[in-house]
Amino acid sequence: MIRIAMLGSGFIGRFYADSLLGQRSKDKIVSIYSRREESARKFAKDYDCKHWTTNMEESIAHPEVEVVCISLPNNLHEAAVLLCCKHKKAVITTKPLGRNAAEAKRMLEAVESAGIFNGYLEDLVYTPKFLKAHESVKNGALGRILWAKSRETHPGPHSDWFWDIEQAGGGCILDLGCHCVEIARSFIGKDIKPIEVMCWADTQVKPIDAEDHAIALVKYENGAIGQFEVSWTFRGGLDLRDEVMGTEGTIWMNNFLRTGFEMFTTGKDTDYVAEKAESNTGWLFPVGDELNELGYNHMFTDMFNSLEQKKAPKETFYDGYVVNAVLDAAYRSAKSKQWEPVKLEIWRGRTGVSKDSHLVDYDKDHYLVKEELTHYGAKKVILKDKKSGKISEKVLD
Ligand SMILES: NC(=O)c1ccc[n+]([C@@H]2O[C@H](COP(=O)([O-])OP(=O)(O)OC[C@H]3O[C@@H](n4cnc5c(N)ncnc54)[C@H](O)[C@@H]3O)[C@@H](O)[C@H]2O)c1
Repeated sequence: MIRIAMLGSGFIGRFYADSLLGQRSKDKIVSIYSRREESARKFAKDYDCKHWTTNMEESIAHPEVEVVCISLPNNLHEAAVLLCCKHKKAVITTKPLGRNAAEAKRMLEAVESAGIFNGYLEDLVYTPKFLKAHESVKNGALGRILWAKSRETHPGPHSDWFWDIEQAGGGCILDLGCHCVEIARSFIGKDIKPIEVMCWADTQVKPIDAEDHAIALVKYENGAIGQFEVSWTFRGGLDLRDEVMGTEGTIWMNNFLRTGFEMFTTGKDTDYVAEKAESNTGWLFPVGDELNELGYNHMFTDMFNSLEQKKAPKETFYDGYVVNAVLDAAYRSAKSKQWEPVKLEIWRGRTGVSKDSHLVDYDKDHYLVKEELTHYGAKKVILKDKKSGKISEKVLD
């Protein structure tokens, strides 16, 4: 059994608690910290938690607590992490790790010098669909990965602090782009360095200082391209889609809307449908088991198995730092309108990786451009002469 302190009793704190305590879990939340007494009390009652407090350090330092789960607004992650270092408590924190790479780097260095277990709660690389897709990619079913695209768009977050650029650290690039970057990076290879970013961002709809819509390209050292599309202005629910394309195949994933579960209701006695669903009448797209579909169950399983086995989980503070560094470059690019370098003062992957050759041998004199079976029964190959560069086609018998 792992004994947990939950910091924050809001939206994600409750999703995490539902996952941690669901399905006859052996783990237990033994302390809850919340800013307001009534929320702390209510959370403690709902999750049968013996200790509640409005003092963050008291929760972290509580003698029964083995691991601290940070579910606080972005501007409070660093202070909470530093307290975990002070009390030598294992720490797992929600995304994004920091409001920027400088903050994330300080957190990474602090947990490593304190020698404490650290996990980065990026749930979307633990969804059942992602895990299956990633396995296929790793096994080579898609060949060499060329392009990985991830999209998260919805009508905007649910609490005031997200909309305040100081507390949140940014808009939808930081809030949603952090998921997308880690999804694409995982498909392309976490040991491959993201090198530069080109990003468009704008505030199109909301009366805020941060961006509410952005699209970016992330170039990797091996020539692969990552892409993210994020918005706080999308209407129609939570759109979570990923695509990955390689030399031998493609995977498309629709994680939330239109997953094969469609329902019509006139609205009689209906209430909650799914996260960020905008309607509960008409044709709806419910989600069977949100906790599982969003990866929370597999994520905590990896975190706590790793903690017990004294090894690093799949996602650590280091990954959170790399994601923040990519997003910092996106913010710089949105301003400069240029490709901006990803500044990684700490990089633990491969270096000096060059782009794989795009030349496929057909015979000793030709490269193969394409082969195709036509509707009229001919099998054709398109070839390029290795010396002259001339393109020709040949019909095979
Ligand atoms: N899929 C995901 O991984 C996911 C989804 C949503 C949110 N998050 C992250 O979780 C964190 C919390 O987001 P949330 O949606 O739960 O927010 P929320 O506003 O619903 O809850 C925040 C909680 O933090 C506590 N708190 C303490 N001090 C506070 C302060 N000064 N201001 C506001 N709240 C304070 C309160 O208990 C509050 O309930 C953020 O870092 C966010 O990015 C992650």
